[in-house]
Parts: sequence; structure tokens; C-alpha cells
Amino acid sequence: MHPGSAVPPVDLSSIVSVAQAEGEAAGRTPADVWDYLVGGSGQEVTLGANRTALDALAVVPRVLTGLSERSLHCRLVDGEARMPVAVAPIAYQKLFHPHGELAVARAAAVAGVPYVVSLLSSTPMEELAACGGSLWFQLYWLKDRSRMLDLIRRAEAAGCEALVVSVDMPAMGRRLRDLRRGFTLPADVRAVHFGEQQASRDIAAGGSSIASHTAMAFDPSFSWADLAWLAAHTRLPLVVKGILDVDDARQAAHAGVAAIVVSNHGGRQLDGAPSSVDVLPAVVDALDDSVQVLIDSGIRSGSDVLKALALGAHGVLLGRPVCWGLALGGESGVAHVLSLLHDELDNAMALAGCGDPSSIRQLRTLTPAARPGGRR
Ligand code: FNR
Ligand code: LAC
Repeated sequence: MHPGSAVPPVDLSSIVSVAQAEGEAAGRTPADVWDYLVGGSGQEVTLGANRTALDALAVVPRVLTGLSERSLHCRLVDGEARMPVAVAPIAYQKLFHPHGELAVARAAAVAGVPYVVSLLSSTPMEELAACGGSLWFQLYWLKDRSRMLDLIRRAEAAGCEALVVSVDMPAMGRRLRDLRRGFTLPADVRAVHFGEQQASRDIAAGGSSIASHTAMAFDPSFSWADLAWLAAHTRLPLVVKGILDVDDARQAAHAGVAAIVVSNHGGRQLDGAPSSVDVLPAVVDALDDSVQVLIDSGIRSGSDVLKALALGAHGVLLGRPVCWGLALGGESGVAHVLSLLHDELDNAMALAGCGDPSSIRQLRTLTPAARPGGRR
């Protein structure tokens, strides 16, 4: 069942916040696909911590700034963006809507934000590049280096503007919801960048075909030396996604990356890892301005984006909410979610006295520990 086949089409104008889209999308998505989307690993402690930490953070607004206009424009990695947001890489987007990645790429292009295409995309990157937006291509480290080089050359030829290397997948986290359901991909949804041979092996493998991809194709011995090899084999700027430790952030900077993404993979990898916002300030402090710091995991509103930037991030990646929009109405649903996020951020900036994204980084924040009577 795909969204819309059994329930009436959603009236997008009745959805007035990014957060509201979740509840609306839940009722329109098959239960196993929904669990794959929203679930985390283990007891989902880290998944929950992402929200708890954002909710507990306060941003102190400035007043009498004399500003009457705002611009949300900024630079992300090497390109311009209409707001400090990029669409996170999410695998197999045809699970959520028959138009899958194509709908997301079109909506991101219209919204003027970069779209990170997953290695596990169910649509070829060349078709997405034809939508005309800014594309970044995400890689997991593959055992087969020649296949990886082929993909890098394809990404360069297709006009992708950055390579995002996700470094937090030496193995897949235990997603208990998927294990309980024995979640498998439907026959019409596959990771097209892997080719036909891999696809038929997936179908034969049964069980969680996603976990089987990971185990068969991804190289758990990936190291800093391999990252240096990658940097020497591409002309594209590198973004390393999945950093939580300050020393790892420093080492990534030393490797010459253009940006890092502070991320716990939306609570889907190490259960018990800290929330991204909790480690963000120390990571920002450890780096100089030559490396941009992006963050994801738990961003659900414009006010969350304001909080991330106030802690020193240059931008955020938005993951699951994009798929809620996709499930709700394909390209229009994604466009609606991105436009709500833009309007929420614009409003939060107005109320905080900020004229542009860089001024958000000057705002003061209060964490629970810093409040009178807070824990230290
Ligand atoms: C992901 N994520 C992910 N990351 C990545 O580098 N490559 C991928 O293929 C995927 N696939 C994927 C599928 C699904 C269903 C989810 C929910 C997540 C992680 C993603 O890029 C991002 O880090 C998180 O989703 C961010 O958290 P929020 O915004 O979803 O809370
Ligand atoms: C996930 C992988 C595919 O989180 O990144 O499901």
C-alpha cells in the first residue's frame, strides 16, 4: 500500500508545523515502513535523547536590534543555500512514495537547499541531477574500491557538489523494530547504485535486506588512512558525517575535509551515544573556521535550527521530516515541509533579533546545567 491508496489525499494547508506532519504521515504509511523510518537502535535511548536535549536548550533572544529585514541565505560547504538546511541522506525513498528520490530532489531544488543522495538511493543519481538543484552524494565505505571509484566518478560527472562520507556504519545498529518484523524491501524498491546482481542477492537473502547490504558490501575496517586515500581521489569537497568525538572532529579537520556532520544517525547506530546537540559546542570550539560544522538528529522545527546555529553550527541536515512530507504528498508534501521549516526559522530569527544565519551564532544559550539550580 502506498500513501493515498486507501485514505483520502491530505490537505497540506491544514498542516501548519513540521512536527504536525509526523502524525499525519503515520496514518498513511504501512506499519513496517513506518517503523523502519522512525525507529532507532536498541532501547532507543539515543533517539529519545536527541529530542530531550533540544527541548531542554533555551536560546536567549536579543531586542532593539533595529532590523526590519532578514535573509536566511548562507553558504553550505562550497555552495549557496536559501536557508541553513540540507536534506539528509535517507536510503530507499521509494518506500515512502512511488516517486521517491525524484520528488525529494525536485522539492529541494525549488526550496534552494542541497539534497544529499544516499548511496542506497532507489533512483539513479543522474536522474536526480537532472532536477537542477544542488546535489551531494553520500558514500558508505565499500569493500570493493573500484566500485567506489566508479561511483565517485559518476557523482563528479553528474555535477554533484560534495561527497558526504558516512563514517558511523562499521556495522548496522540493531533496529529492534525491523528485527521483530523481519523487515524486507519490497521487490520494486532497491539500491540502484549497487547494480542488478546485488539486488537479486538481496531478494534471495530474505531477512532484513538492509542489514545484508551493510554486512556484504560495507567495509568495517575503514580508517583515517582510507579517508586520506579518498581525498586524493576526488576533486569534490569532502563532508564527513557521523562525528561525535572532539578528537575525531580534529582529525577530520586535519584530513582537510570541508565540513563535518555532528550526528548519531538519528539514534539508529550506537544506542547510548550522546545527543548531537550535547556534543556540538565542544566540537565547534575544537575547530577553526576552515571547517564547517553541520549537525543532524532530532531537528523538527525552525526553532531547533535556531538552537543548533546558536550553539555554533553552520547548518543542519533534516532527515525523517522530509520523508513524512514525501509520504503525505510526494513532491508537494516535501515542498510543504521545507517551506514550513523556512517560515518557522524566519519567524524564530525575527523573534530572536537575528538578520542572518551568522548572527544566530552570536546568541546566548542556556543548557539545564547552566540554569540556576541545574545539575553540573
Ligand atoms: C538514515 N540515515 C542515513 N544516513 C546515511 O548516511 N545514509 C543513509 O542511507 C541513511 N539512511 C537512513 C534511512 C532512514 C530511514 C533514516 C531515518 C536515517 C541517517 C540520516 O542521514 C540522518 O543522519 C538522520 O536521519 C538525522 O536524524 P533525523 O533528522 O531523522 O532525526
Ligand atoms: C539506515 C541506513 C541505511 O539508517 O543508513 O537505515
